[in-house]
Amino acid sequence: MEHTFLILLLFSKALSVGAQFNGYNCDANFHSRFPAERDISVYCGVQTITLKINFCPVLFSGYTDTDLALNGRHGDSHCRGFINNNTFPTVVIFSISLATLESCGNSLVVSTAQGPNAYGNLSLVQIGNISGYIDTPDPPTIISYLPGLLYKFSCSYPLEYLVNNTQLAS
Ligand SMILES: *[C@@H]1O[C@H](CO)[C@@H](O)[C@H](O)[C@H]1NC(C)=O
Ligand SMILES: *[C@@H]1O[C@H](CO)[C@@H](O)[C@H](O)[C@H]1NC(C)=O
Ligand SMILES: *[C@@H]1O[C@H](CO)[C@@H](O)[C@H](O)[C@H]1NC(C)=O
Ligand SMILES: *[C@@H]1O[C@H](CO)[C@@H](O)[C@H](O)[C@H]1NC(C)=O
Repeated sequence: MEHTFLILLLFSKALSVGAQFNGYNCDANFHSRFPAERDISVYCGVQTITLKINFCPVLFSGYTDTDLALNGRHGDSHCRGFINNNTFPTVVIFSISLATLESCGNSLVVSTAQGPNAYGNLSLVQIGNISGYIDTPDPPTIISYLPGLLYKFSCSYPLEYLVNNTQLAS
């Protein structure tokens, strides 16, 4: 006995194709607003600190990706981020290698705190707190009705780990 299966493949146009703003992956209903502190996500990784900034509110404010730089180093192309338009929303990614963490003006502040040492015992350990910011140039290169954008970040590591992985300025 033979059965014939009729398979109907229904193709429907993806509804999300319209979710763009100025050619980037942005849903105007959700992302066309003023920038906020929550627009930055910080990953304190083993080798690198990765910062992702939601690009859509940046665009909405009239700025572009090249207006954003680490710690005011706007003249230094390696202190700028790069666009990843393969995500939704589009993000600007900054990658800070722990090996060269001071090259774009990030700061390192050492403090002492109670915590597990390298052997897992609680004791006083030295903590290295890396911090910095991403901002837009001052004066702005565009006429914006907003003040400049500013995103702050910080990551804490055991100092011993940083010393092993960083060429700290002496
Ligand atoms: C961003 O991605 C969307 C969807 O993949 C694409 O349609 C759009 O052209 C891209 N924009 C840029 C500037 O590459
Ligand atoms: C860790 O603490 C345990 C229990 O107090 C102690 O026996 C051990 O010697 C400590 N190890 C180190 C490396 O300090
Ligand atoms: C690290 O430094 C930043 C900037 O000064 C500060 O906001 C943050 O609270 C500090 N983090 C820790 C764990 O000390
Ligand atoms: C740092 O390096 C020393 C010597 O190579 C090693 O003994 C120690 O375990 C390392 N510490 C960390 C936190 O990686």
